[in-house]
Amino acid sequence: MEEKTLLLIKPNATARNKIGAILSMVESNGFTIEELKLFRMNGDLADRFYAEHVGKDFYPELKRFMMSGRIVGAILKREEAVVKLRELVGNTDSAKAALGTIRSLYGQSKGENAVHASDSPESAAREIALIFT
Ligand code: CMP
Repeated sequence: MEEKTLLLIKPNATARNKIGAILSMVESNGFTIEELKLFRMNGDLADRFYAEHVGKDFYPELKRFMMSGRIVGAILKREEAVVKLRELVGNTDSAKAALGTIRSLYGQSKGENAVHASDSPESAAREIALIFT
């Protein structure tokens, strides 16, 4: 079934001029870009977007990083979009991400892992509503 998911291209990837390369990979893998937005995350949006992580030991660093530069948000559509995008993105820890995945190519670490991809259709709907208000 056709579904939607959210991709965020994080500050480490935008700073390295990898927006085009990442969007090109996404399009080459059968996704249609439905909406696109270049923006910065403030603290309030970070707390709402990453609500499940607020209070965890890594959250202050995650928040600082996500507020440190430009982010691209993309609503992507295809069959099984959530699962297919997470396959293309790879493991959260860039060092463990399979060869050829976005994080293996453009991530630096677990925190600076180049992109975020929604983990379920429910998360996708929640995250899309937060970013594309
Ligand atoms: P993301 O897909 O954006 O969802 C939550 C983010 O938290 C995750 O990618 C990582 O960048 C970050 N994260 C998760 N676990 C850790 C960790 N142990 N240390 C640092 N960052 C983490």
